[in-house]
Amino acid sequence: MLRFLLAAALALTTMSPAAAQTGSPRVESLLSRMTLDEKIGQLNQVPGGRQRALNSRLDAAALERVRRGEIGSFLHVAGAAQIRELQRVAVEESRLGVPLLFGMDVVHGYKTLFPVPLALAASWDPDLVQQTAHVAAVEASAAGLNWTFSPMVDIARDARWGRVVEGAGEDPYLGSILATAQVRGYQGASLADPSSIIATAKHFVGYGAANGGRDYDSADISERTLHEVYLPPFYAAAQAGAGSMMTSFNDIAGVPLTAHPALVRVVLRRDWGYDGLIVSDWNAIPELMNHAIAGTPREAGAAALRGGVDMDMAGNLYSAELKGAVEADPTLLPMLDDAVRAVLLAKERLGLFDDPYGRADPAREAAAMLTPEHRAVAREAARRSMVLLKNDGDILPIAASARRIAVIGALAEDANSSLGSWRAQGKVEDVRPLIPALREALPNATLTYAQGYRPEAAQVVAVTASGEGAQAVHEVSDAEALAEAVETAKASDLVLLVVGEHFDRSGEARSYTDIGLSAAQDALADAVLATGKPVVVILMNGRPLAIPELAERAPAILETWFLGVESGPAIADVLTGSVSPGGRLPISFPRANGAMPMTYAHLPTGRPAAEDLVRDTARYRDQPITPLFAFGHGLTYSRFDYGPLEVDRASLGATGGVTASVVVRNVGAVAADEVVQLYMRDPVASVSRPVQQLRGFRRVALAPGQAKRVSFELTPAQFALWTDGWATEPGAIQLMVGAASDDIRGRAEITLTEAGRFATPAPAVATPSTESIVP
Ligand code: NOJ
Repeated sequence: MLRFLLAAALALTTMSPAAAQTGSPRVESLLSRMTLDEKIGQLNQVPGGRQRALNSRLDAAALERVRRGEIGSFLHVAGAAQIRELQRVAVEESRLGVPLLFGMDVVHGYKTLFPVPLALAASWDPDLVQQTAHVAAVEASAAGLNWTFSPMVDIARDARWGRVVEGAGEDPYLGSILATAQVRGYQGASLADPSSIIATAKHFVGYGAANGGRDYDSADISERTLHEVYLPPFYAAAQAGAGSMMTSFNDIAGVPLTAHPALVRVVLRRDWGYDGLIVSDWNAIPELMNHAIAGTPREAGAAALRGGVDMDMAGNLYSAELKGAVEADPTLLPMLDDAVRAVLLAKERLGLFDDPYGRADPAREAAAMLTPEHRAVAREAARRSMVLLKNDGDILPIAASARRIAVIGALAEDANSSLGSWRAQGKVEDVRPLIPALREALPNATLTYAQGYRPEAAQVVAVTASGEGAQAVHEVSDAEALAEAVETAKASDLVLLVVGEHFDRSGEARSYTDIGLSAAQDALADAVLATGKPVVVILMNGRPLAIPELAERAPAILETWFLGVESGPAIADVLTGSVSPGGRLPISFPRANGAMPMTYAHLPTGRPAAEDLVRDTARYRDQPITPLFAFGHGLTYSRFDYGPLEVDRASLGATGGVTASVVVRNVGAVAADEVVQLYMRDPVASVSRPVQQLRGFRRVALAPGQAKRVSFELTPAQFALWTDGWATEPGAIQLMVGAASDDIRGRAEITLTEAGRFATPAPAVATPSTESIVP
């Protein structure tokens, strides 16, 4: 198969995949009038600043380059006035007047910051996720931007990888649904609408499978896993019309994605018919020399172009080398033309040729940011993203009788961390922090606060691939601070212990071998738990944490991730019970650093993990066989009963569909949301299949006593496996419905009577669901 892919890729390097697709007279006419230099200019994306210092590199020299047609796009710029001026020079002063693309990492909001992507994924609420992306687009476009490098749709099953915070977690079905939602949110009904921006599905592909969880490291992925796990969210994003994709830094089996015709030209362009704009990651084209697949900058440029990369992000390599490369090897010319077509097509789709200034309107910019409506979406998103991991004895919500409440742990006052890793124009002063919000929500309680340890800013500890320096925070144990925390706890009726990780421990280039708490936080948790006071742990973190002891000892744990500008009030809403938590984990929590990678969707193996240590099975001897908290896990302030899982037919051919439904009843005393999850298993197939695979979900709101029938429409394509294409095999398919991957409440079985072949990756087929009230 791989040989076939490579052969096809080689054949395709002389074809013009985008050419056939443009069908745009304007693009073709423009292209025909361009000089080689002007074409190369279009492929050049230049930093106008840095992520944390936007516009800092915009000077007269940059403007002059625009005038000469040497730049096709800027990144890390913002501001309607600045962008309008750059656009004016491009449109009015360059020879052909081609407008510019302006890109930025608008990842979980532009000015109104929402929960980080992993948190949003925990909402299991695609409509909400779409709404947050829409608000981000409204604000970013008002500041002149027309392109975001989001969503990151990399599946990640290793929490050591710091970028788990940027994605939707471990599951390709959930990842595909949320990829679609984000693309729709950013791009709206039409890209030509000035409040829409181009979405970028990144990083194509396999970036989340980095060896050892080390950012940028190689991935070695089987062809089946690539198709079944890593590619589906990209397929879903492509189907949703994502205007752009970014290739990833990593290599797969020695082939860097920055120069990977078999995946980019064959799978993405040819098989999926994708005609959007493909941009490299930051400086990734020159880095082909570090990968040691190119000996010179010119070879690197040629390899990336052959690999199907249209635009060079920040590498300055296409602009320096492509002319020489094309002159030396004219077979590159059609590929160069196609790359230019993709850039021009993106500009046309955005409506930039007709209205280059629609997104750079200072009046709209002044009115658009952080409006009350946007804050309301942020509050709702934050509320819905929290996951109640544990709640022994129903210690939460906080009882109205609680008079003395201790808030302990420096993260409680770290509003900066609430903003998460990418923050565009989010500002700390826009965050509504936890402690004042709690005081407001609990007017009759006395709230005391103790830091518990000393967070100390360290000097720059890491520089990302994007050249950003980062200030890590060292958490230093301090006897005095610890003693004060213990006294504060002792003098309270209830402790809210806020622990986790500083925001800058997750994100790009933030891989760690140890994903437990810092020593200082560990000591603090220990001391506070030792007081014997009831302790509610509030986690703030960007990745799953290995915290087995804390999970054992603390009666309640609320996962709050990094929730954005409405963090404080939203957490207070949940703690006080004005809202029941309803989020679910989009990624498993391991019990130990060494227990990764891990996923609920593993294969059974010949010796399935068994609790009995006398038997030799696929497990660690020093850990239980279960995760600390499983994929899909999350509690509420209520309880739900499930009826039997019913299917409306017992067998299915290669076409048609089956409806699986279940009645879910809220048997508790408060209104709450249940996330009803549908899993499948193909119990006997020609290759070993995962023990569970998510195939549908629905977040259902239920009043106390209320029951609803939740139905899922499934088709054979969703049961397919990858064997040289997507195919089903005749035989049984087991269906499971439940409240989490480890909390299955109902089962059913259907029989596939025929083999079938399908074009769409099984996890990228969205399962329609409905709910109806049962009297
Ligand atoms: C590098 C990151 O990998 C990518 O996700 C990001 O979009 C670019 N830098 C631009 O900031």
